[in-house]
Amino acid sequence: MSQTSIKLNLVNIDAVPTSTDVSKILVVDDEKVIREILADFLTLEGFEVVTAADGAAAVEVLKKNHFNMVISDLKMPRMGGLELLEHIQDHHDNLLTVIMTGFGTVETAIEAMKKGAYDYILKPFKVEEVVHIVHRGMEKQRLISENIRLKEILSLHQLSEQLQSTLSLDEVIESVLAALIKNLKCDYVGINLRAKSSGRFTQQSQQTDPDASADVMAAALDADLILDEIRHNKYVLAQNEEAYRFFKVVPADLSSFIALPMVARQEAIGFLTAFSCTPGFHFTVGQRKMMDILCSRSAAAIDNAELYGGLKQSFRQTIQALARALEAMDTYTAGHSDRVTLYSRIVARQLHVSEDELEIITQAAMLHDIGKLGCHTNLNKPGKLTDEEYEIFKQHPTYGKEILEPIEFLNNVIPGVEYHHERWDGKGYPAGLKGTDIPLVARILSVADAYDAMTSDRAYRKALLHENAVDEIKKFAGSQFDPTTAEAFLEGIEEYRQDCLRRNIPVPK
Ligand SMILES: [Fe+2]
Repeated sequence: MSQTSIKLNLVNIDAVPTSTDVSKILVVDDEKVIREILADFLTLEGFEVVTAADGAAAVEVLKKNHFNMVISDLKMPRMGGLELLEHIQDHHDNLLTVIMTGFGTVETAIEAMKKGAYDYILKPFKVEEVVHIVHRGMEKQRLISENIRLKEILSLHQLSEQLQSTLSLDEVIESVLAALIKNLKCDYVGINLRAKSSGRFTQQSQQTDPDASADVMAAALDADLILDEIRHNKYVLAQNEEAYRFFKVVPADLSSFIALPMVARQEAIGFLTAFSCTPGFHFTVGQRKMMDILCSRSAAAIDNAELYGGLKQSFRQTIQALARALEAMDTYTAGHSDRVTLYSRIVARQLHVSEDELEIITQAAMLHDIGKLGCHTNLNKPGKLTDEEYEIFKQHPTYGKEILEPIEFLNNVIPGVEYHHERWDGKGYPAGLKGTDIPLVARILSVADAYDAMTSDRAYRKALLHENAVDEIKKFAGSQFDPTTAEAFLEGIEEYRQDCLRRNIPVPK
């Protein structure tokens, strides 16, 4: 295939007619003279006309080209008009069929109308009548297309709103792919994103039509070539054989392929590809424009989601660094924050909290004892603390709150940190809160913290066995611990330990 023929297909957007696209008509008749008369007159009316000698030939032509209307004779060798009509109904959306018939077969023509033909023409016909029917049909088709276009715009608008409301990269990609498969009715849509580390555009995600053939599933795109073409021509829009070169493995019956760049902050962050293997399916210029808008909206959403993801990662790393700083103070508390986090998450899941709440509980658990950094005394010395030392120790939840207060993005974590030593019966510290006045996150941390403290060695005592610690929690449910939270803990920890046993994972001490 020559470079010139490819260039012809990768047309510049300004060179392509849109609403003034020439309508294409396929005339099917075994009589050459009829084909020629109709072709001449309809061409004079401004239509692009292709002819076929019978239904079977028409099916082949329809596989390769998009038409707005088919005018077909009823009786033809190999495949007649009714059979062709059935084929069109099954395989081609929005393609009007007009049946031509002799006077004696009007009833068959009516039968054809029942089967979905747009209209019929009686032979011998007057050319003006045919032209009138064709214009009327084209107007109907224009209205149908307009309607489809409006629906596409509406979906695009809804999708844009949806994209603005999510900061999850996976959700953004999934929404874009699902919307395209649904609206374009193509077989495959994929997104390749540039990896920050390598700069390579790797396949991120793809979606195929639920009824897609094994061939569609096995197709493999040539990402480097597509990228190269997009860099030079801004996009790829190729039909039939001209699309083959963009594939390493070409799916059977490939009919149309499109690729568009995704640009955010003036940089290409990825590209979107779509193809169809439905005979006669061609991506239109209107669809390409719609996908263009969608690409820029989704690129902005993906860029946002990636920035947010990076921010979230820095956030988690900051929390971990703070927790490590605390644990570096003494060896006895090594791993304490991680284990309290693990146990708190077990309880939280058992209580069916939302994902957002789970995130806050996780962060609060990591940082619950951060206030110990403010206690200028050795809180883990051998033996019991003196009364004076204990008074200092009791300040750590308040110190924790004071340490976190200036950090705005950690403010959600403060209730857990400040109140994790409160007791259900109101005898805790620092505020002496009671019952459900204690925030749920703090009630969860309280039981997780107590369990880990009991099952860990301390400077002044050895660790309790799991069973003994569980007995203590049962004993103090309703006085020290919120009974519901304690129960959730007891159920959750048993499930967790059973799961560890099943998977041969050591249960953390
Ligand atoms: Fe504490």
